[in-house]
This record gives sequence, C-alpha cells and structure tokens, in this order.
Amino acid sequence: MDALLSLRVSGGYSGKPGVMRDLALELREREILGLVGQSGCGKSTLALAILKLLHLKGGKVEGSIRLKGRELMALGEREMRALRGSEIGLVLQSPMSSLNPALRIGTQLEEAWRVHRRGTHEECRRALLERLENVSLPAEPGFLKRYPSQLSVGQAQRVLIAMAVLHRPALLIADEPTSALDLITQSEILQLFASVRRQFGMTILYISHDLLSVATISDRMAVMHQGEIVECRPTAEIFREPAHPYTQELIRALPVVPQLAAAAGK
Ligand SMILES: Nc1ncnc2c1ncn2[C@@H]1O[C@H](COP(=O)(O)OP(=O)(O)O)[C@@H](O)[C@H]1O
Ligand SMILES: [Mg+2]
Repeated sequence: MDALLSLRVSGGYSGKPGVMRDLALELREREILGLVGQSGCGKSTLALAILKLLHLKGGKVEGSIRLKGRELMALGEREMRALRGSEIGLVLQSPMSSLNPALRIGTQLEEAWRVHRRGTHEECRRALLERLENVSLPAEPGFLKRYPSQLSVGQAQRVLIAMAVLHRPALLIADEPTSALDLITQSEILQLFASVRRQFGMTILYISHDLLSVATISDRMAVMHQGEIVECRPTAEIFREPAHPYTQELIRALPVVPQLAAAAGK
C-alpha cells in the first residue's frame, strides 16, 4: 500500500521544547489511523505541524512531512493555503466555537467553498446540499438558512465535518472531534467518520486521548508517548499484544474491553 503522508519531525515551543522528538509516522491511502496518547503528550502539536500552522501558537518544527510524495516543509505559506482545505481537511474538538454564531450555516459553508472554487451560486448551492447529504444532515435550503444556535452540538459537528470534506481532501485530520460530545452523539459522529471514509475513500488521522473511541474506528493505531510514536500497528493486533509498556498501561487502564468489530466500518 502506498503512503499518503509520511513524516519525521522534531519540534515544540520555546517554553516547552521536545514535544516531538524525531517522531515518525506514515499514513496509508484510505486508512483510518488512530493517534492516541495522554492529554498534553503533543497530539495537537503534531496536527498543527502537519498543516504548517504551528507558528501561530509560537511553536517550531523541523524535519520532513511528505504528502503524496510532495515535501510540505519546502512549501511557502501561499502554497500551503492552497493546500489546506483542498488536500488536507481539519475537524476540531468544539463545534460550537468553530462556527461563527452571527452567520447562517449556508453562508459559512459557501465561504469555505469559495476559498478554492469559482462558480455560480447554483453550483455552490448544489455542492453544499450534496455535502449535507454526505453527513446525514437535512439536504434542504431551509437547513442552510439556520444559525449555529439553532443546531444541536452533534449537528454542528456534522456541519464542520461537511465543511472539512467540502473539497474532498485526500487527508482528513480530526483532533478530538468527539471529546465535547455526549456518549450517544459521540458514537454517531464516530460512525460518520467511518461513513465519510467509505464515501470519499479518504485517509483519516483520528486523534484522541480516548483509547476506546480510537479503538472502535481505526484500522491502525499509533501510540504517542514522550515525543515519539512508540508503537504503530493494526489496532486489533495492539489490543491482542501491546508491545510497549506504555501501551500495556493504557490498555490495562481501560474499564471495558473495546468492540473492535466496528473498526474501519468497511
Ligand atoms: N502555545 C504553546 N506554548 C507553549 N507550550 C504549549 C503550547 N501549546 C501546547 N503546549 C504544551 O505542549 C505540550 C503538548 O500539547 P498538545 O499538543 O496540545 O497536547 P495534546 O494535544 O496531546 O493534549 C503540552 O505540554 C502543552 O502544555
Ligand atoms: Mg490536543
């Protein structure tokens, strides 16, 4: 299988160096790779580094990040801007704070569409309704007229997922996308990621501190600890035989045994 993304990076912040220490990771075409590790271990730092946005938080990264063989570290900000949203999509933790409360859903989706596309209002409208359907939201003009406050948190997260997959990026990065949701909504959104992968054939980097949700959805799992990936193997294999002491500790700490059958949702 070909690697869609392959990276080896070091970096961190001036007050907190060494968050990533020669950290190596490879994502294959169409896989859901779960990245786990305890809060504060550097998962979000890695996500921002891949998007080359770490400087916005005062961080620095060096090394190599290759997307489809293209070295992102060699690209300038203008090239990265063309790539964010079109080649790499991002979904974050708190849906409500990621949407602008003053603007209708349709307006916000249309803005995201126009960043990478020229087209008539009709073409845009059609694309938006299609994406609403992709994420199981009402594909109706009336829904696009709603304001964020008229949505449930789960619906808001679906809107943000629709926005992240608007341009069918090859890679979708989801950073703790269910951590702000109640358990039932959490499980629905997890299913949605599996469905999005099926519909678009995209690769998903699914990041969470929650081993259980990662276990349910991922084909392979990467365990991050002390700035490194200490283990990266098929999820079922890791649960059967965790190799690294830290992984063993994570699994021992689980209150229940995860259901791996749903993994991948293929
Ligand atoms: N802007 C920042 N400046 C300094 N340190 C930071 C900054 N952002 C995060 N950190 C520190 O870097 C480490 C990794 O943070 P983060 O990547 O957010 O971890 P995770 O996403 O795994 O919870 C943490 O110790 C955190 O306190
Ligand atoms: Mg984080």
